[in-house]
Amino acid sequence: MGMVEFLRDLPKAELHVHIEGTLEPELIFEMATRNGIAPSHASVEELRAAYEFSNLQEFLDIYYVGAAALRTEQDFYDMTLAYLRRAAADGVRRAEVFFDPQTHTERGVAFPVFMSGMGAALQTARTDLGISADLIMCFLRHLPAETAMETLDAALPYRDLFVGIGLDSSEVGFPPELFVDVFDRAGAEGLHRVAHAGEEGPPEYVWAALDSLEVERVDHGVRALEDSDLVARLAADQVPLTVCPLSNVKLGGFARLEDHSLATMLDRRLKVSINSDDPAYFGGYVGENYTATQQALGLTADQMVTVARNSLDSTFLDRASKDELLAELDDYVAASAELS
Ligand code: ADE
Ligand code: ZN
Repeated sequence: MGMVEFLRDLPKAELHVHIEGTLEPELIFEMATRNGIAPSHASVEELRAAYEFSNLQEFLDIYYVGAAALRTEQDFYDMTLAYLRRAAADGVRRAEVFFDPQTHTERGVAFPVFMSGMGAALQTARTDLGISADLIMCFLRHLPAETAMETLDAALPYRDLFVGIGLDSSEVGFPPELFVDVFDRAGAEGLHRVAHAGEEGPPEYVWAALDSLEVERVDHGVRALEDSDLVARLAADQVPLTVCPLSNVKLGGFARLEDHSLATMLDRRLKVSINSDDPAYFGGYVGENYTATQQALGLTADQMVTVARNSLDSTFLDRASKDELLAELDDYVAASAELS
């Protein structure tokens, strides 16, 4: 078996994917047409050609326009199921999927619409694809913290449809401390907590995510390497970092994938996983992120197994379910070793 096939079928979890970032141009056009919305570009090709970004904000500006094609329960169902099918084909056994409610409520699309659509797709995936999947609700940090609290209130009737909360959108200028109250409240509700930190923002934002928001995982966290005390803390506590290599290159964090710090992070014993972030925009789903990163950094099969193991062990599943998936991983690795 070649490395590409080995990595494709390697049992893994995806822990950092924005469902709105899986909306492919073809689906944007299909939905815009059926919803009577004028498309932002003349063709699918022109829209895809516009996906050139030099930083996070340039991407977000286009991403929010794309998400505006989503109007109906069916739209949210189709988008979510399309992603889960793609993920299952990449060996994903467990997905913890971000959604951005404020992107929709601000446009007049209400909780029952998107929660029902996404919830039904998760159920289809569990029964038909054999993949375990849950949602994590993210607050947009460029909006006031009071609106995050209102969003949490509006979401609580759907409490059984999501397992945690996160924090995303424009990072620099919007430090984690702004969201302490809503994270505290979510914690009291028994929700898991994660936050984007150290994508474009400084190491101080990673410290604040850990100490002020009490997150269980850090999304991205690549800039943590600039602070050796922070690296020591993340390694000692084995805080999961959900790294997104193709995203980091597309948004200018690294000039080339060959320059990515993921190998260094592994060497420092950080608990990193590989994820796709916004695969419709960044040129690859989780499978491509695994294969391209392995090749660019010359990572060994053992290192890639460590990444997959980290991903499964960093899920919000209970211990028994995690152990089941980890045993599946061990069996897969043992069977592959016999083949080669
Ligand atoms: N929303 C979607 N993708 C994001 C990213 N990479 N960083 C921050 N917010 C996002
Ligand atoms: Zn992200």
